This record gives sequence, structure tokens and C-alpha cells, in this order.
Amino acid sequence: MKTVVITGSARGLGLCMAKLFRENDYNVVISDLNEDKLIASKEELEKIDSKGNVLYKTCNVTKSSDIENLIEFCDEKLGNIDIWINNAGVNQPDKAIWELSEEEIDLVLDVDLKGAIIGSKYAMNYMMKKGRGAIYNIEGYGSNDAMMLGLSIYGSSKRSITYFTQALAKESEERNTGVIVGRLSPGIMITDFITNALGDKGKIELPEKTKKVYNILGDYPDVVANFLVNEMLKNTKNNAHIEWLTTGKAAWRFMTAGFNKRDFFKEK
Ligand SMILES: NC(=O)c1ccc[n+]([C@@H]2O[C@H](COP(=O)([O-])OP(=O)(O)OC[C@H]3O[C@@H](n4cnc5c(N)ncnc54)[C@H](O)[C@@H]3O)[C@@H](O)[C@H]2O)c1
Repeated sequence: MKTVVITGSARGLGLCMAKLFRENDYNVVISDLNEDKLIASKEELEKIDSKGNVLYKTCNVTKSSDIENLIEFCDEKLGNIDIWINNAGVNQPDKAIWELSEEEIDLVLDVDLKGAIIGSKYAMNYMMKKGRGAIYNIEGYGSNDAMMLGLSIYGSSKRSITYFTQALAKESEERNTGVIVGRLSPGIMITDFITNALGDKGKIELPEKTKKVYNILGDYPDVVANFLVNEMLKNTKNNAHIEWLTTGKAAWRFMTAGFNKRDFFKEK
């Protein structure tokens, strides 16, 4: 049975992807900061009919010892890791670069960029010994050079993720590790992420203009996860770019916006 490990998967996109891997009979290992939330998510996953197991382990991706422990745990319990997804992420507070504290800058870069680099490093070390496996990193706003006040540090991290993942794919090929590396681009998803800064440490008030764009371009994470997981299951190529919101799809969404009745932000 194959195994997938997803960081930051107690909720949001990570949890949705875990559900789909479970439907495909994978062993699923979820990990995140908070144990109680992981237990609740594990119970949710267990309701899905599957031949695979569900395991959880706390892991703060900014601590390499936590990542090493997570890999050791998976190896001991399941004997292999087929797919590793560096999904954990935090949004930044809605501030200009010079208004952010150094602590805020550090946290965004540590989780979104360094967390994925360290996760990739240890996953690669593990997988190359086995001669196979796949590592995926998540792109986001900024990966395609877009810029917006209030997203510059997050955007810097995601633009770096794109470069880093391509570089990792190239190194993996040059060293014949047998491990494939790819990028997942989820577009805009209606998760806690878009309204919560730095994990759940602060609130982001979305301007009406932004909500309008999110209503046109955004999707719930289960919809995006469905596409991403199906593509990962099919993918055998190194350096793959699995992109949900392509330029063509975004253009189509804007062209048909007049018929779009979605309102993700309506008071319930
Ligand atoms: N929501 C969007 O519009 C959007 C768009 C593009 C990319 N992304 C990316 O998708 C990924 C998932 O985002 P989401 O929307 O599901 O967000 P989310 O906030 O719902 O989930 C992120 C998870 O990461 C966890 N996390 C935060 N810091 C961590 C740490 N140090 N160690 C381990 N886990 C940690 C959180 O606890 C949370 O469970 C992120 O990489 C994000 O940057 C999101």
C-alpha cells in the first residue's frame, strides 16, 4: 500500500488532499502543529471507506528535528513514503513591507519557504535511499510574479518556492535519485488562510474589491484538491507543474463573471 505524508494537514487544502488520497486507498499521514485538531481530522478521515491507514503526528515544519521525527515515524509504522507534500503555510498580515515586524517576516519565511526547503531536504534523503518517491511543494500568490500591497513577503516566499522546486528537480535528475519533484498551484481557495494572518494569530479584513475577485477566481479547497490529487496520482514526470487556475481558466472566469452568482462571503 502506498503512503502520502502531508504537512499542515489538520485543515484546509492539506486535509482535503488527505481525504482524496484515502479514497484512493493510500496510507495517509497527517501532521500539523496542534494535536487536538489532528485527532479531530483523523476521526473525519476514518469515516471515509479505504484500505489504507490514517496516522497523525504533530510536526512544526520550522523545526528540522520535528521533520526528522515525522519521517522516522512513517518509516517505522508504514515502511515507506511514496508522496511527500510540503503544504504547511501561513499568510502574512495585510501590511506594507516596512510596517511588518522582524518576527512577522521571520515566521512567514520560516514556515512558507524554509519549512518546504527543510521538508524537501529530509524527504529527499529518505526517498533517494529507496530510489523512488515524489515530493511536491505548493505555489501561491507571487509564484507568477504578481504583486500586491500586503502580500509581498508571502509572495517573496512563494516566488522562491517556484525557483527552489525547479532547482530541486534539476538536482534530483542530475544525481539520478529516482525521486520526482513537482509544484502544485492551487489558485485561490476559500480557507481560513485568506482571512487569518500568521496561522491564527491575526485577522485579515478583505476589502470588497478583493472579495469580488475571490468570488470570481476562488474555489473551495475540496474542488482544488480533487484536481491536484488526481494529477499527482497520474504524474510520473519530474519537474511537473500541476496548475489549477491556469491563465486560460482565469480569463474564462472573468469573461463569464456576469453569470457568476457565487458569494463566498455572504453572511450565513
Ligand atoms: N488559500 C489560498 O487561497 C491559497 C492559495 C495559494 C496557495 N495556498 C497555499 O496552500 C497551502 C495550504 O493553505 P490553506 O489555504 O489550506 O491554509 P490553512 O490555513 O487552512 O492551512 C494551513 C495549515 O498549515 C498549518 N501550519 C501553519 N504553520 C505551521 C507550521 N509551522 N508547521 C506545521 N503546520 C503549520 C496550519 O496549522 C494549518 O492547519 C499553503 O502552503 C498556502 O500558502 C493557499
